[in-house]
Amino acid sequence: MTRQILPASPSDATEAPVAPDVPEGPEVPEESFFSGDGVQTEIVAGHGFRTRFVADGFSERLSVLDYEGSIKPLVSYLLDAARARGLGKLFLKTRKDEWEAFISSGFVLEGIIKGFFRGEDAYAMARFLSTERRYSPQLEKENQIIEDLLFNPDRREARERAGRFRTETRNEDVELATPEDAEALARLYESVFDTYPTPLNRPEYVAASMHDGAIFNVVRCDGRIVSAASAAPDRDNANAEMTDCATLKEYRGRGMMRALLRSLEESLMHRSVGCLYSMARSTSYGMNLVFHSLGYHYQGRLINHCHIMGQFEDMNLWVKVPTPTR
Ligand SMILES: CC(C)(COP(=O)(O)OP(=O)(O)OC[C@H]1O[C@@H](n2cnc3c(N)ncnc32)[C@H](O)[C@@H]1OP(=O)(O)O)[C@@H](O)C(=O)NCCC(=O)NCCS
Repeated sequence: MTRQILPASPSDATEAPVAPDVPEGPEVPEESFFSGDGVQTEIVAGHGFRTRFVADGFSERLSVLDYEGSIKPLVSYLLDAARARGLGKLFLKTRKDEWEAFISSGFVLEGIIKGFFRGEDAYAMARFLSTERRYSPQLEKENQIIEDLLFNPDRREARERAGRFRTETRNEDVELATPEDAEALARLYESVFDTYPTPLNRPEYVAASMHDGAIFNVVRCDGRIVSAASAAPDRDNANAEMTDCATLKEYRGRGMMRALLRSLEESLMHRSVGCLYSMARSTSYGMNLVFHSLGYHYQGRLINHCHIMGQFEDMNLWVKVPTPTR
């Protein structure tokens, strides 16, 4: 899913400056539409702010897409909106000059996405609405994975050897998927994930994502798609999310995911993308290893961020600022 964040205007936590084009008075939903699966996008204006957010009933999360105006009334409105819908997490990305104002409004800083807003860093802020949602039982295991990757090359190599088969995937084995592959891709995702935050198990959703600009790369064996990943470029902010990574069990450890992500990076090279980022399942050694080995930097962890593999899971933020080609 493309998560597009538009630039936010400056404001502060204590004063409530009113953005010039924002109407005063009670909050008015200007627009509201459902895109299925309990996902509702809303645009709301009033009381000195204007915002666009997604209320996601599946991952029980309210994610702000963009906002402008005063932070305090905005947060107050969003908290009410999240509670009214029974959502446990409020999430947004803000800029350097505003993240502290969100801390003062009860948020925590979960990570930093270098260069997310056309080269400017994004601060990933969360406000949890229940103790249960705030705490993760997996932290020790997840910290060990990061520790092994970043600080223990011996342990890392031993684990890599244990998870590795001897066949290597070459760049030439990777193909660009087309809308005709939507059905096969949906089948792959359906068989790998018990649940997934977006309806990737539906061919029409996969095709619509491609139509919206997502690039899906695949590896086939005997004509069948056995591994896939996608890149979702955000033109407004000049970034791209690397996502939808899946390899069928019997094909894992052959370097398919590494080859897929490498080739996606290559196809983004000529698009002036200043930030590549991904949210990787924090308990997946293989996924975190792949991003680390491709030169992404660990930039934080989003706690109980989405419903995936049948439960809420933490997601590690991995970020790479590509070096411009001449
Ligand atoms: C995570 C996943 C996509 C990795 O796919 P993959 O094709 O097996 O990944 P690769 O083979 O490219 O992995 C790259 C390296 O990591 C190693 N590796 C992969 N899984 C590993 C594991 N569980 N333990 C140790 N090493 C592992 C591979 O051996 C390979 O090392 P090498 O290149 O030095 O030989 C796959 O395990 C998967 O589909 N998991 C379930 C779905 C999922 O969690 N997706 C991630 C969503 S964020």
